[in-house]
Amino acid sequence: MTSAEMRRAAEVLRSGGLVAFPTETVYGLGADASNSEAAARIFEVKNRPFFDPLIVHVGSLSHALKFAEFNATALQLARQFWPGPLTLVLPKKSGLADLVTSGLPTVGLRVPAHPAALDLLETSGLAVAAPSANPFGFLSPTTAEHVRTFLGNRVDMILDGGECSTGVESTILDVTGSVPVLLRPGGLALEAVRSFIGDVRSALMPQDRPSAPGQLDSHYAPRTPLEILSFDRIAADPRLSSAALLLARDPARALAAHAVEVLSPDGSLRRAAQNLFAAMHRLDQSGARIILAEPVREEGLGLAIMDRLRKASCRRAV
Ligand code: TXA
Ligand code: MG
Repeated sequence: MTSAEMRRAAEVLRSGGLVAFPTETVYGLGADASNSEAAARIFEVKNRPFFDPLIVHVGSLSHALKFAEFNATALQLARQFWPGPLTLVLPKKSGLADLVTSGLPTVGLRVPAHPAALDLLETSGLAVAAPSANPFGFLSPTTAEHVRTFLGNRVDMILDGGECSTGVESTILDVTGSVPVLLRPGGLALEAVRSFIGDVRSALMPQDRPSAPGQLDSHYAPRTPLEILSFDRIAADPRLSSAALLLARDPARALAAHAVEVLSPDGSLRRAAQNLFAAMHRLDQSGARIILAEPVREEGLGLAIMDRLRKASCRRAV
């Protein structure tokens, strides 16, 4: 994108508009995080419930320090993993619209590792509230085309930065206490956090009032129903010919299905994560009656992939 485009995007944000922009994880739907009317438009456009708080994006750790209290652990994590796919939930200071944090005393902050996102944050000088740029509960966008297809003219501007390199949303850690708590597995492997900081607890339990979308039963869902089955059970499934297959790696033998997507030919989980949402988008549009998905190993980015597949396999109760 050109620098004129970037200046225009910054101007749209400063005047309360919505800009969809690329990050290394997924595309975000951004608004000025200090402007409650702009933030309200995000919820409206996404059809997102107001109790589900937004992640605030900043260009640097020093900018982040204005908006939240960092304890020693939080500082270490930010210095190690920012810019990058890690969101830290911290006690918030002033300066952010209450709506952005759904009235919580905490805020989720991250510095994205994408040149266009960093440029936008720097050019605008703003903290930018941005959930993934998709209708609530639906598949996340990893290309500008996904955003155009599903939000299109409901946003003021879409910055096209190509395909997202990580492909799954940020890992969310609550760092308000002494031991970090995992609220959502994501683009930063839990192993990397553990080997750097030691103990991390997991809070991936269903709750009435979710503190992260990983705790809502159904999320990241295609319109086509999705089931998770082993390769052998997929191969023997009576619905095979009318099914769309989401395979973890190149299959041992070809299967005569309606459509097939391979997440990663050689089984690399990084590659699989990068392809996940784009492959699900294509299968969802293939006209198949059902998507049959092969599970991946639950290590590294496989934790985030399986989390998204499980959420996608819950039919939405709307
Ligand atoms: O990779 C990402 O994180 C992407 C890109 C655009 O940065 N954003 C993203 O946003 O995934 P979203 O809205 O789809 O997911 C953000 C989730 C919220 O659903 C919310 O539950 C959690 O982060 N979150 C935000 N602030 C929180 C807080 N104060 N306490 C607990 N959870 C919070
Ligand atoms: Mg989302």
